Amino acid sequence: MNFSKRIMNIKPSATLSISDKAKAMKAEGKPVLSFSAGEPDFKSPEAANTAAIEAIRRGESHYTPTSGIAELRSEVCRYYKERFGLDYAPNQVTVAPGAKPLLYEALQALADEGDEVILFAPAWVSYVEQIHMAGGKEKVVDTISTDLLPLREKLEEAIGKKTAGIIINSPSNPTGAIYPAETLRMIADVAKEHDLWIIFDEIYERLAYEPAKHVNILNAAPEVKDRVLLINGASKAYAMTGWRIGYALGPKELMAKINTLQTHLTSNPCSIAQWAALGALRGAEDDVEMMRREFAKRRSVMVEMLRDMPYIRVKEPEGAFYVFPDIRNCPIPDDMEFCARLLESKYVAAVPGTAFFAPGFLRFSYACSMETIKEGMTRMKEFMESL
Ligand SMILES: Cc1ncc(COP(=O)(O)O)c(C=O)c1O
Repeated sequence: MNFSKRIMNIKPSATLSISDKAKAMKAEGKPVLSFSAGEPDFKSPEAANTAAIEAIRRGESHYTPTSGIAELRSEVCRYYKERFGLDYAPNQVTVAPGAKPLLYEALQALADEGDEVILFAPAWVSYVEQIHMAGGKEKVVDTISTDLLPLREKLEEAIGKKTAGIIINSPSNPTGAIYPAETLRMIADVAKEHDLWIIFDEIYERLAYEPAKHVNILNAAPEVKDRVLLINGASKAYAMTGWRIGYALGPKELMAKINTLQTHLTSNPCSIAQWAALGALRGAEDDVEMMRREFAKRRSVMVEMLRDMPYIRVKEPEGAFYVFPDIRNCPIPDDMEFCARLLESKYVAAVPGTAFFAPGFLRFSYACSMETIKEGMTRMKEFMESL
């Protein structure tokens, strides 16, 4: 069978591949501890479950509007007004089966064949592949040597005739870095000067740990509202990964294009899941705060235990639920080999930094129990000491 050039150019998600490998080893009876998946281990909030059950009982089992039920879109507008003081109308909001398809659709709508899209590395695994799916090319601006924040001159250096837009992810997967207002203002300023669009993926915005605070780009630079697409969703904040609900807010014309794509692609996200997300947005604030506090404790334990290991350097993440240690000084500086050996010898699964354009680093998710963190970090220390 001959496959298309397009599909041959797409790599499978490294994070999902590693969690699948860890799951397979577990199924064989191996005592695997996985730090690879990017999903909260908490149950979905009761408010979401109840709303979903009620929706099933009411018979909400038909196609919904492509952009999502009006109630959920209005609720997203209310949320953005209350949380960020931003005014969006319901026709500027689109709901999809997760943030992933929204990013895909946005890139299809914004990038032409051969266009370049700026990514700040370390960058989440799916951006680059989705840029390729749109026929575009990534232009990577490294931030490892600049304390995980891009500098203006490096960003400007990366911009050329074919640059179409910039993707920002704050809080960041994989580093947990949060972009401060001045960095966001700088990026917005450059985007304005070069007429670029910005995708601002803030799916981890509810997970910021004091004293760090999440900043929405439009609070830092309100003047770029007509060139910014905000991406958010229920997966991370409400522990609702499996329900598959994401939402995006942006200029009306862009949302219409995304909706056009959705009419041919998804029709609508699962009707019941939309009602569940509405329940979460209306009634799960306490759950969000409970989870955030719990993640903060786990973050401290993981960082402390990593700092107690030889060769490892680690920066305390400010948000999301990942720690991104630097192993470049260890006897196995190759992160791919390191992860393979750690999994084979200690049954601990982490994601190699190479998947995020950051060779020599590892990503550990702390969205797992404290017990798993303590046992996994103890095994990791034994591994480091054996090198
Ligand atoms: C940075 C980032 N954006 C978007 C997503 C997609 O989330 P979902 O499709 O579950 O809404 C993820 C999930 O891992 C992520 O880490």
